[in-house]
Amino acid sequence: MIILGINSFFEHPAVALMKDGKLLFAIEDERLTRIKHGKSYTPYKTFVPFDSIYAALKETGIHASQVDEIAYSYSSDLHQQALTEYAQGTRKSSQSEEEAALFSLKNFREALNGKYELPKRYSDFLPENGLANATYREWDHHLSHAASAFFFSGLNEALIIVSDGSGEISSTSIYTGKNAQINKIGSVDLPDSLGFFYSDFTQLLGFEPFSDEYKVMGLGAYGSDVYRERLDQILRQDDDGHYVYDTAKLEELKASVGPRLYGSELTEKDFNLACSVQRKLERVLVGLISHYIGKTGLKDVCLAGGTFLNVLANSRIAEIDGIGEVFIQPASHDAGTALGAAALSHVHAGGQPQIEYDSMFLGSEYDSESIEKALELSSLTYEKIPNERMPSKIAEVLHQEKIVGLFRGRMEFGPRALGNRSIIASPRSAKTREHLNILKDREMFRPLAPIVTHEEFDTFFAGTRNRYMMFTCKAKKRAIDLIPAVVHADQTCRVQTINKADDEFLHQTLSKFKEKSGVAVLINTSMNVRGKPIDLTPQDALNSFFTSGIDCLVLNDYFIYNPTKRSDK
Ligand SMILES: [Fe+2]
Repeated sequence: MIILGINSFFEHPAVALMKDGKLLFAIEDERLTRIKHGKSYTPYKTFVPFDSIYAALKETGIHASQVDEIAYSYSSDLHQQALTEYAQGTRKSSQSEEEAALFSLKNFREALNGKYELPKRYSDFLPENGLANATYREWDHHLSHAASAFFFSGLNEALIIVSDGSGEISSTSIYTGKNAQINKIGSVDLPDSLGFFYSDFTQLLGFEPFSDEYKVMGLGAYGSDVYRERLDQILRQDDDGHYVYDTAKLEELKASVGPRLYGSELTEKDFNLACSVQRKLERVLVGLISHYIGKTGLKDVCLAGGTFLNVLANSRIAEIDGIGEVFIQPASHDAGTALGAAALSHVHAGGQPQIEYDSMFLGSEYDSESIEKALELSSLTYEKIPNERMPSKIAEVLHQEKIVGLFRGRMEFGPRALGNRSIIASPRSAKTREHLNILKDREMFRPLAPIVTHEEFDTFFAGTRNRYMMFTCKAKKRAIDLIPAVVHADQTCRVQTINKADDEFLHQTLSKFKEKSGVAVLINTSMNVRGKPIDLTPQDALNSFFTSGIDCLVLNDYFIYNPTKRSDK
């Protein structure tokens, strides 16, 4: 059975293609359209991620007519149910907007069934009417998030928590999962929302809501929890872990502290506010999850929803007394619901509940021919280096404090570059962080993340090992002394840990770097320029290479020095 999972109602439109219980391909539309987050928050506009659908079909060799089911991660029925609440004025949006959203959902279906003419470029795999024979099934947005965690966790039984801005009705949903069953046991509904709480403060701090929340998290490291009491009034938590978001109290706080204007200087007040918001989120999540662990007796926990991209909060959750395994869907934002919806359709059809997938490297890849073509167009000279020798070559230039763009294999699915579309550098000098932040036009307060081999993790860090950077770890003294570029102001690090069996190339690169420098740790930041999504194609990578002025670029087997830095050769 071939299932196409689609998220497109909120931001981060994405597509996942699954065949007989194996996830073959997944991509976020932003990587193809080059529009960060895929689209702005416009829930009442039809948005069909045709570029992603086409990429999924073409790269797997599956024709649109072979697709059995479309699994969409938002429910028009639930949305309709919520319309009465809009009418009662308990939500921010208006009834007319939400009715338009409903119309848009119906329109989406018609668009998929070929009501509108598709561009000719799709016609080999996605002709008009190509998906008309597939069953169309909508899934509850939070249930899709829940499935994206539980059915991909390898666990047979777990407590599942979903938290984001909102689904159709709920902002936090609590489920139990057992084999093929996911049952809802509780929720917090709109207008109370942890996602909106954090986004409102993101805006108050002069950043972009639903986009820059991670900046607030990073900023908090420089402050103290001085607004704790005010925040406890704004977001009140009951004994059962549920919360009430009092926006009238937020307005009172705004009146006393005042908003920070975008781009203006950051002050101690901003640092402290960011710290208090972050601590509050952590306390609420720990309270909620602890309550439900006690209530259900389930120790293993699966997490999904945009809230769980907050790696500091994730680490507090992992420290809850008596908690077992914590599995967090790496694509916890809405893109991940494409995976969840596809999994729900698969399980609904009687398939095995645990989905087969090799890793989160689920997107497009590019062969030597397309890379050579891109290099020729750029008039660049390059060196072709066999795969087995490339790690030594990269380690050599990294040891000379060069900054390297690393482009290889399949694109990452999810918000983080994990070594296939990354910029890597030596972490031994704090100045490298400043240099990289300047090259990438990032704010200077922002930390950079380390990659470390599994074997060397304990040497530098204390905390949870994770391949997908879903937790922060505490920096040990050796890290503070030897790799300061990846230690944040609060002495935490968002660590990517590499097992040899998972990624031999990156493991080898780290090992070769250790032979030269003494540390099996590198800086890893995404390959992109400011305001753009992570690079997808060789052409995108070359664009970043020239724009950011990094020293060397690896495109699979091709090693390129930046011609504007000739003295480096
Ligand atoms: Fe969501």
